[in-house]
Amino acid sequence: MKVLVVGGAGYIGSVVSSRLLAAGHEVVVLDDLSSGHHDAVAPGAEFVRASVQDDRAVSTALNDGVGVVMHFAARSLVGESVLHPELYWSTNVQGTRALLDAMRRAGTRRLVFSSTAATYGEPGSLPIEEDAVPRPTSPYGRSKLAVDLMIEDDSLAHGLSAVSLRYFNVAGAIEGAGERHDPETHLIPNVLRVAAGEVEALAVFGDDYSTPDGTCIRDYIHVDDLATAHLLALEATGPDGAVGAGRHRVYNLGNGNGFSVREVLDTARRVTGHPIPTMQADRRPGDPAILVASSQRIRAELGWEPRRPGLEEMVTDAWRFVQNRGRERHSRGPAVEKEI
Ligand code: UFG
Repeated sequence: MKVLVVGGAGYIGSVVSSRLLAAGHEVVVLDDLSSGHHDAVAPGAEFVRASVQDDRAVSTALNDGVGVVMHFAARSLVGESVLHPELYWSTNVQGTRALLDAMRRAGTRRLVFSSTAATYGEPGSLPIEEDAVPRPTSPYGRSKLAVDLMIEDDSLAHGLSAVSLRYFNVAGAIEGAGERHDPETHLIPNVLRVAAGEVEALAVFGDDYSTPDGTCIRDYIHVDDLATAHLLALEATGPDGAVGAGRHRVYNLGNGNGFSVREVLDTARRVTGHPIPTMQADRRPGDPAILVASSQRIRAELGWEPRRPGLEEMVTDAWRFVQNRGRERHSRGPAVEKEI
């Protein structure tokens, strides 16, 4: 199967691309490198440098035998979205609208979309199930919820077979592919920057949440387990798959275990052997106190099973990626760019 991976130069898109290639699929990465990295494009993938809103580039790629689209390209920072909501409505909603229109014209009817736990906001009960009432607390979460609804409408009207995967907090790395954002805002990479000596202390955003130690609780999932879910979702949208034509199915992806910011810090101290000093900072606007997933639906319907649910393994893999980063980047070299 030829898969168009939109946003395949980012953290999750690059890991999923590697797993698709290893499973024997052909991969075309389309990415404008606004936040991704050229050298993160999986070796063996074709690379088109273009925005998802570049209709000519997207249509040309789709018309070259693509059977399935995986859509990762988005802005995804809760704090930034509170300050600049317009960027989120434009990139996330208009970007996906353009992609869906191009898919309809090209006759591409299978889609796997990167949605998020941020669509739920402050949950009424835990763990969060897919049919919980969504009350997103940030423009980021609202923009992704809008996209989920838009995909649902397109599926019903235009016979799309679509899956939205609602990620909780993705962590860890696989060989040669891991997390690096600029600027970095996520907890585990920021903790590891302190351990690597790049930053003096970790700012802990808020210690007065109604959680046992006062810091926010999140459900961390290994990026490799997340990639497995994408492969299952790809199959599910196929001719004999669980998600047939005209259907859109939403699946949560987490392990069902919550860890506080302080627990993540303790794990990272054990893994790295570094004391990782902290400084107390104000709450970050838009952050819900607790997000923990129920992933029963994807387990039951698609047979997903996390193989690496331990936080310690995620932090260990992320730490290995941080330590090997320079060397790996050098030895791999960038993917060859295709002109469209
Ligand atoms: N945090 C800190 N200091 C930091 C970074 C983060 O205290 O330097 C805290 C945050 O305030 C939050 C927790 O650590 O309480 C986790 O923050 P992240 O930025 O790592 O992750 P988020 O929970 O904000 O967001 C991530 C993804 C979203 C997704 C969400 C779902 O970025 O796309 O998980 O849980 F929606």
